Amino acid sequence: MQLSVIGCGYLGAVHAAAMASLGHTVVGIDVDAAKVATLSSGKAPIYEPGLNEILQAGLDSGNLSFSTDYADAASAEVHFIGVGTPQRKDGAGADLTYVDAAIGDLLPHATAGSLVVGKSTVPVGTAERLAGVVRPAGLRLAWNPEFLREGFAVQDTVAPDRLVYGVGGDAADDDVATLDAVYASILERDTPRLVTDYATAELVKVAANSFLATKISFINAMAEIAEVTGADVTQLADAIGHDVRIGRKFLNAGVGFGGGCLPKDIRAFTARAEELGRGESVAFLKQVDEINLRRRQRLVDLVVDSFDGPVFGRRVAVLGLAFKPDSDDIRDSPALDVAVRLKGLGAEVVSYDPQAMETARRAHPQLTYADSLEEALTDAEAVAVVTEWKQFKELDPAATAELVARPVVFDGRNVLDPAAWRQAGWTYTGMGR
Ligand code: UDX
Repeated sequence: MQLSVIGCGYLGAVHAAAMASLGHTVVGIDVDAAKVATLSSGKAPIYEPGLNEILQAGLDSGNLSFSTDYADAASAEVHFIGVGTPQRKDGAGADLTYVDAAIGDLLPHATAGSLVVGKSTVPVGTAERLAGVVRPAGLRLAWNPEFLREGFAVQDTVAPDRLVYGVGGDAADDDVATLDAVYASILERDTPRLVTDYATAELVKVAANSFLATKISFINAMAEIAEVTGADVTQLADAIGHDVRIGRKFLNAGVGFGGGCLPKDIRAFTARAEELGRGESVAFLKQVDEINLRRRQRLVDLVVDSFDGPVFGRRVAVLGLAFKPDSDDIRDSPALDVAVRLKGLGAEVVSYDPQAMETARRAHPQLTYADSLEEALTDAEAVAVVTEWKQFKELDPAATAELVARPVVFDGRNVLDPAAWRQAGWTYTGMGR
């Protein structure tokens, strides 16, 4: 099929390349000429395992192209909208400027009868409103939320655990058939596929992210209790996680969640629920957000308290900048926030991340970035592990002790073996452990 993908950021670039890998002919449209040039040369503008490979394969086969010109999307039968919906600068709600602009720019070029498919995460009610714009122009609209995780984005797109189609209006059956054709090879593997109305499809996405955020903040709340009782939240998570109704996933306590989705989605959901007069239904999400943000400060406090005097001028190695491993994304990153807060207190912070140095440097040029993990550790008076990259988890405590000035480690992701580090002479402090 001929497809277009409007917006070539995290979501769109992966979706475009993944759809080409399924055999479709895809054009990715983005207003950012530099991004289009990078993608056209076969390079992903983001670090995402496997993306470069499917991008290059798509370009080589002629199935995949990128353009800044909406006219190049004219012959597509399906137009996916994958632009960002960031948090508004003036509040907690979602900024829909890019979604509205994408649809507005697409309509004059799209062929009558083609299907516009929203993938962006939007406040419930948006699809219904957009249908009122798209249908009078002779096009159809469906909402098909995306559940991809950064670091697994390619895999999550070509082999999702479910597909959700939000449809409405007289052409709903046709819309379902069109989406089934797009995803035929995925559906052949018995992937669950749910057909809903627009509102449900929009809510599925924010409900899923709210649930995940709540799970993480729940275990971090338990970490706060563990800290005053001497209990170990990691063992607690293992023990409750054996109950299949609870499950062990997303019960890792630490400096909490960040990234381009969970934080802004729970805030936008809260704002939308308030608009709908149902603020109290999701009032708990404010606490989820608060618990999460407290954990960053908790780690900062632990580092500060480890010194007899002020932290000013003390050398602290902050290992990690990305909001999670296998990503160079620093949006709302707890790791970067810890580095910035410590720096703000006057500590001599030296940061290192295997992938996120460039993105972090652009956002925070005032921080000091080490060229290597070893350089970051050298002469450190405290070490804080804040992103669970493999190289940090596999650090040898004895060899690392040789590099630092003071063997004091803070395990902001609870991924180090406390016994091994203590045996090598370290003062080890985890989060709720
Ligand atoms: C998330 C959702 O998982 C995905 O389904 C949705 O489509 C987009 O948002 P992502 O932002 O890539 O994906 O990250 P995710 O793996 O969910 O992690 C989010 C944050 O939570 C990270 O900062 C991670 O470190 C943190 N986290 C995760 C924890 O602190 N503890 C956990 O147990 C799990």
